[in-house]
Amino acid sequence: MDWFQTVVLSTVLSASWSAEDLTFPPGFMFGAATAAYQVEGAWNVSDKGESAWDRYTHEHPEKIKDHSNGDIACDSYHLWRRDIEMAVELGLHFYRFSISWPRLLPSGYPNYISEDGKNYYSNLIDGLLEKGIEPFVTMYHWDLPQSLQDLGGWTNPLVADWFYDYARVVFTLYGDRVKWWLTINEPLVMCDFVYNNGILAPPIMSPELGAYLCSKNVLVAHAKAWRLYDEEFRPKYNGKVSVANHHVWFDPLTPDDAELAELAREDCVGKYTHPIFSTTGGWPPSIEKVMEEVSLKRGYKSSSLPAFTPEEIALVRGTYDFYAMNHYTSRLIRKAKEGETFTAWPLGDAVDLGGIVQRRADWPLSTSFWFYVYPEGIRRQLVWLRKQYGNLEFVITENGLSTYAGLDDQDRIDYYKNYLRQILLAIKEDGVNVTGYTAWTLMDNFEWMDGYATKLGLYEVDYLDPQRKRTPRASARFYADLIKKHALDSVTVAPPNVTIV
Ligand SMILES: *[C@@H]1O[C@H](CO)[C@@H](O)[C@H](O)[C@H]1NC(C)=O
Ligand SMILES: *[C@@H]1O[C@H](CO)[C@@H](O)[C@H](O)[C@H]1NC(C)=O
Ligand SMILES: *[C@@H]1O[C@H](CO)[C@@H](O)[C@H](O)[C@H]1NC(C)=O
Repeated sequence: MDWFQTVVLSTVLSASWSAEDLTFPPGFMFGAATAAYQVEGAWNVSDKGESAWDRYTHEHPEKIKDHSNGDIACDSYHLWRRDIEMAVELGLHFYRFSISWPRLLPSGYPNYISEDGKNYYSNLIDGLLEKGIEPFVTMYHWDLPQSLQDLGGWTNPLVADWFYDYARVVFTLYGDRVKWWLTINEPLVMCDFVYNNGILAPPIMSPELGAYLCSKNVLVAHAKAWRLYDEEFRPKYNGKVSVANHHVWFDPLTPDDAELAELAREDCVGKYTHPIFSTTGGWPPSIEKVMEEVSLKRGYKSSSLPAFTPEEIALVRGTYDFYAMNHYTSRLIRKAKEGETFTAWPLGDAVDLGGIVQRRADWPLSTSFWFYVYPEGIRRQLVWLRKQYGNLEFVITENGLSTYAGLDDQDRIDYYKNYLRQILLAIKEDGVNVTGYTAWTLMDNFEWMDGYATKLGLYEVDYLDPQRKRTPRASARFYADLIKKHALDSVTVAPPNVTIV
């Protein structure tokens, strides 16, 4: 771009920015999120069963940046009243948290329900409702009962029935009070991250098989739970159920890579959304084709991506009441050169697609190695989804920035402002029906392989304090103010000032 274009473009952009309407639509909901293993602690109290994350962090402390685990975490199992207070301080419309399967069903099966587990979530739900805050419940956020992991976990097709049985317990206990449900959090991470990289629980490397068995089983499990709700619980309770997917937005490096970028979007997102949200159902045809070719080339007799039967396609298709989108980051992709070596997708390259994945030079790196900041990515992802699947109701179920410690987190505020502004543009300019936004996360917590070294909280948590004191950051005040005004009061033109590590 020459200087003339730059000047003209920036003039046009700043003119439109100053006139921009920064108000959110009436009824737009704001929330914040956490997940059970990341905040609850109390890993072995009462009759709680062991989870795959308990097992993993105990046996492999070296896999976690600071060799930590979630044994105590934020101790939300005991400090949930303070968590509700924080939600009140922020003025949240909803609080998204997850239920720990092995806390509720210690054996993994519904043969026995933990009384303490049952009461813990019941009290949390009642406490939120008393304050006028909607509980927004994730049924599964990665802490599989170890007993089921021992039987193959998400690679065993029976997991869909195990999850269905667990879902029935959850809907029966809490369906009267919970109107917003997510069955499963981020199939991409549970399947592709896990089996491609071996850096999350369970530490099993199986990129050519395990990842794809998991992909199919997760979709069937979600669908069975959704249909259970639809048939037996919706008539009484009239809530909404969906699945929260992880979205990495892909741009092509050069115009020549446009087709590859589209394939990467289908691989990263479409694999988990086409079966549910498209009118035809089943795997995205482009991914089905690539997987068949790649599998045969690798010497398998058939595609490693297990086929759906026609019955399964029908079972999974249409199992949603809204679209739940977690989004943090974006990538560039280009065709690999002859003989170029790959590192495994999704943290590295798109191995199956023959794509090399990289960062655009002007995208700042956060404190998480996988996480670059590109606010426009969230808008482009929303527009893509709308184009693929129509005019759905979208709720952003996770978005936020990882940083180092400190209460004056202007970088996090910049991130929120820039990403929220792009969401407003998607709503107002592109007509995408986004009805809610969830900040990840309410407070610092156990950030998986980063342990406690990386911070994403609106509240700082003091892990040296046995009381796990929570203190609001500048971003908490920003978020409370935004919610109160139902509008951004300004937008930041400069990219977020993130410390480059
Ligand atoms: C629970 O785990 C902690 C370590 O996090 C250990 O010190 C304690 O003894 C365990 N308690 C029981 C009842 O097993
Ligand atoms: C957005 O979705 C909500 C929930 O389904 C619906 O009530 C509302 O009418 C939709 N708005 C638009 C502009 O489509
Ligand atoms: C970015 O942050 C650093 C460290 O917090 C600070 O020294 C610097 O002045 C900031 N730059 C801008 C442009 O705000």
